[in-house]
Amino acid sequence: MTPPVSTSSVQKRARSPLPRRLLVTGGAGFIGSAFVRLCHRQGRVSGDADSGHCIVLDAMTYAGDRDRLTTVLDASRPTQLVVGDICDRALVDHLLRKHEIEAIVHFAAESHVDRSISGPAPFIQTNVVGTFTLLDAFRQHWDACGQPAHYRFLHVSTDEVYGSLAPDAPATSEHSPYAPNSPYAASKAGSDHLVRAYSRTYGLPTLITHCANNYGPYQYPEKLIPLMFINMLLGRSLPIYGDGQQRREWIHVDDHCDALLALLELGEPGESYNIGTTDEMTNLALVEVLCDLMDRQGIPLPIAPCRQLIQFVRDRPGHDRRYSLNCTKLYHELGWHPKISLETGLKDTLTWYLTHRSWWEKLLSGDYQTYYQQQYGSRTSAP
Ligand code: NAD
Ligand code: TYD
Repeated sequence: MTPPVSTSSVQKRARSPLPRRLLVTGGAGFIGSAFVRLCHRQGRVSGDADSGHCIVLDAMTYAGDRDRLTTVLDASRPTQLVVGDICDRALVDHLLRKHEIEAIVHFAAESHVDRSISGPAPFIQTNVVGTFTLLDAFRQHWDACGQPAHYRFLHVSTDEVYGSLAPDAPATSEHSPYAPNSPYAASKAGSDHLVRAYSRTYGLPTLITHCANNYGPYQYPEKLIPLMFINMLLGRSLPIYGDGQQRREWIHVDDHCDALLALLELGEPGESYNIGTTDEMTNLALVEVLCDLMDRQGIPLPIAPCRQLIQFVRDRPGHDRRYSLNCTKLYHELGWHPKISLETGLKDTLTWYLTHRSWWEKLLSGDYQTYYQQQYGSRTSAP
């Protein structure tokens, strides 16, 4: 039985058989876990003997959390969590063979720009060496299986590889040159080039995606939106880097994952695809929206209205001014469109953080305190 496929927004290209046995790297992280949960909700993995399964491979760094997977990790469900490093070639070989993997959906990465500035080495190791390890293992596995046409290596990359756009420049397309500015973006760009090389040189059926900034449930509180919501609830200041006029494009994590599922089925091997929404705004405008949303909850807050908490702080070095994606290829060639408006998505995300306080409170101790102190302790006011 082929698992049901959502057809709502996808109709343009002929479908290839959907890879059903997936290795999801970084599947205990923010986006990877949303992808696994979506696979379950859509019935792409189920308890049926001939249905698909997800093997999550995650090193459980500070950013990995098993609790993101509790709804899909019980004994009756076909998702397993393997704690391990994507740089461990023997482990990757073993998992590909043992579970007869048809597609790698590759989320595992060091993902936070500020951490890449204070300590770039793990970014090179995981993002570049780790991606190389997976690619080489998958190539060998694909060869050994007779090079099936429906196998896929789906590499989840970022809009940050294109670098910073001028305020009035056209949005970046898949043909725009790479110009990464942070160690994070450079490490993702390096991994993208390796994926491209494995497609061009060996014919490996790869896909590369460049997604905009994600938000939604279970995002680690170092990132802008959860950090702001949590600081409002704790009565802490809301640190805006520089002048707050940097622009980002925002997408709900469920829309991102829905696009990835569509691309697994409909994406052209060897191609890359931008995934975005056109919901672009400045950081300051976004934080003001978040403040107003919080104020309207009618809950007791340590300090209100929340805009009083906004504090301009020293800028991030090399801070990109603007990202903006041209998604014509995804929208017109594949017929996929985002479904969650920014207004609805932000409201739902705030509700989630209000109703899952125990999830984020547990993250605020230990490592996060040290990180917060290092990042923000010395940057309390703008120059
Ligand atoms: P995240 O930091 O929340 O999750 C990363 C996961 O990878 C964690 O669970 C971590 O434990 C795991 N991991 C790290 N190193 C590993 C290793 N060596 N071996 C195995 N697992 C390892 O990141 P995220 O926000 O979920 O991002 C997922 C992917 O999406 C990344 O590749 C990122 O570059 C890309 N992306 C993110 C965004 C965004 O806005 N968050 C936007 C575009 C693209
Ligand atoms: P972030 O969530 O770190 O994502 P990225 O760097 O991948 O875009 O940051 C989003 C934007 O918000 C970015 O321009 C940096 C800015 N920012 C702040 O102004 N203050 C903060 O405390 C954080 C975490 C980010």
